[in-house]
Amino acid sequence: MKTTLSTSLPSSIETPCLVAVVLDRGDKDKPEATCECTDAAVRAAAQDVIASGEVTSKMFEATVLHAPKRLKAKRLLLVGGGKAKGFGHAGLLKVASTAARTAKIKGLRSLTFLVPEGVAGADGVRAVVEGTFVGNFEPDYYRSDRKDQQIDDITLVAAGEAAALAAAMNEGLILGESQNFTRDLVNEPSNRMTPTILAERARKMAAEVGLKCEVLGPEKIRELKMGAFWSVAQGSEEPPALIVLQYEPEGAPATPVIGLVGKGVTFDTGGISIKPADGMEKMKYDMAGGATMIGAMRAIALLKPKVKVTAIVCATENMPSGKAQKPGDVQIAMSGKSIEIINTDAEGRLVLADGLHYAQQLGCTHLVDAATLTGAVVVALGFVNAGIFANDDDMYERFRKALERGGEKMWRLPLDDDYKDNIKSNIADIVNSGGRWGGAVTAAMFLKEFVGEMPWIHLDIAGTAWMEEAKPWIAKGPSGIAVRSLVEFVKGFAD
Ligand code: BES
Ligand code: MN
Ligand code: ZN
Repeated sequence: MKTTLSTSLPSSIETPCLVAVVLDRGDKDKPEATCECTDAAVRAAAQDVIASGEVTSKMFEATVLHAPKRLKAKRLLLVGGGKAKGFGHAGLLKVASTAARTAKIKGLRSLTFLVPEGVAGADGVRAVVEGTFVGNFEPDYYRSDRKDQQIDDITLVAAGEAAALAAAMNEGLILGESQNFTRDLVNEPSNRMTPTILAERARKMAAEVGLKCEVLGPEKIRELKMGAFWSVAQGSEEPPALIVLQYEPEGAPATPVIGLVGKGVTFDTGGISIKPADGMEKMKYDMAGGATMIGAMRAIALLKPKVKVTAIVCATENMPSGKAQKPGDVQIAMSGKSIEIINTDAEGRLVLADGLHYAQQLGCTHLVDAATLTGAVVVALGFVNAGIFANDDDMYERFRKALERGGEKMWRLPLDDDYKDNIKSNIADIVNSGGRWGGAVTAAMFLKEFVGEMPWIHLDIAGTAWMEEAKPWIAKGPSGIAVRSLVEFVKGFAD
């Protein structure tokens, strides 16, 4: 997608479609929808439909006006953004993606977006560019009747210092493309996204953006004594892959080294503790955590913050077979801890256990993992908030700030030692399943056993990595959750 900045007078711009945000500038008793534009001619063009109540500031309400009075634009697309108070870059991002989705299904390919003055110039520009990418994504790649409708170019009209706006535009482009890169990986079915293919895609991307990439295969994984990772991989005909991406910019201090560890289960059947058939097809997205880390690394390599980052993705299938591990088996993780396997469907924590340990061996000083780890986090938080766990309040605070800047929703869940009883084993150090109650917490407690004292954040994205239904601002399918916040988090270390 092509992006351009403009400082022209909005009413004088020739474009197939001018986009303006409608916000409520009234008070509680008296809503007052206003078209956000300093050009009086644009406000006037929207005046009649706003006065009649046909167009309101309701979030995501989208209306197309044809041949708007006294404007050079062919159309004026008005998108509601809710109350002006509290409308920030997160809201603007969704409004921009709504505009893109509204326009593209009508066959429009080019938009001119009037960035509302209320969202500071650079922030606004970034949000609109990123939002347009988010809205452009469709999961219908394999449909013969797919329409390939998308926005090909967007012009942004914004106030502010030109260099800062251009930088923001570039940043929005990088973040938008990187999220869609992640979403593409997650969207692929497991026959087209094996561990080997995922590794190839990571390798290709790494070469393009100048990241170091190393892929370790089955022999190396066994040689490193990654008994927990291997216990999952052993049941599959598809060889596992340990994908390591390293970003070491010139001039970065020796520490910190941020470690991003992702669960890359390209299909989760449950193994011998097999899942029910109903809905199992969705388990192709069980590599979303890994894809998130790969997408975040792409953005980091292009944005070039001065901080070292290493990503580790443990990619494997979880299959039942004559070689598969069985409930009751005892496995020795790379760290030396023994694990009694209670349920072979609790495989994500096994692959992450060795990934987290390996990250420490590679010299990481701060760890973040992302995983579609538990159904329990979906029970706890639904599809709105991802679960976030932290063993260190400073780390959590850093991540909370990153969430704010990224505009993503996550809710902190506890990690106190009282939960440790749930993962005690009679015959080994720990069991791999803490049972049904508090399942998201006991899964996190299991991971905690493998991070030692290192500051660590765990993101359980099982409920948020896949949109169960389309929203005005995003298609049904992979969401790209956490890429944005992870990039902000890493940038926070370079400030
Ligand atoms: N990949 C699943 C978690 C999951 C469930 C993601 C639903 C998305 C939607 C994970 O490997 C799993 O199977 N977890 C089990 C753990 C249990 C056996 C302790 C679960 O949540 O049921
Ligand atoms: Mn599972
Ligand atoms: Zn899984």
